[in-house]
Amino acid sequence: MDHRMIEKYEKGWLYLASLLIALLVIITIVNVVKSTIPSVTAHHGHEVRTINLQNIASTPFATPGLKQNEMGQYELYMISMAFMFNPPEVKVPAGKPITLYVTATDVLHGLQIENTNVNIQVIPGEVAKVTYTFKKAGTYRVGCNEYCGAGHANMMSKIIVED
Ligand code: CUA
Repeated sequence: MDHRMIEKYEKGWLYLASLLIALLVIITIVNVVKSTIPSVTAHHGHEVRTINLQNIASTPFATPGLKQNEMGQYELYMISMAFMFNPPEVKVPAGKPITLYVTATDVLHGLQIENTNVNIQVIPGEVAKVTYTFKKAGTYRVGCNEYCGAGHANMMSKIIVED
């Protein structure tokens, strides 16, 4: 091989090596991004995502209650814990879809809204998501429907729906 041939041959290998390194970098980035996306499963008509309870302060659960996202949609964040819901009372508008996000910070709880079909099992480390539109104004009691200890029966909250 003359000098020029060798140069060409070396360039080929260099090109291949760079390609492989680029590929490795891409695979690493994809894996890192993947690991930050919570897994989503659906059961009983609502979606469930995982949450790291250690990081709860950096999530919207740090300030539970009704929020509006950048699209103007209503999001209601609730925390179930022994033996209360946070917030214990919340006002929401009638006739607007409300997306409820609920998690538990200690043990298994339930969240059932009276006179609706909202009936969720709330598992520590998971966020259940369900969207519901209250058609009629009024006070809807929220109760826990999974036995969670001595204060289970008193675990209540209120959703006040206003026109
Ligand atoms: Cu919480 Cu029963």
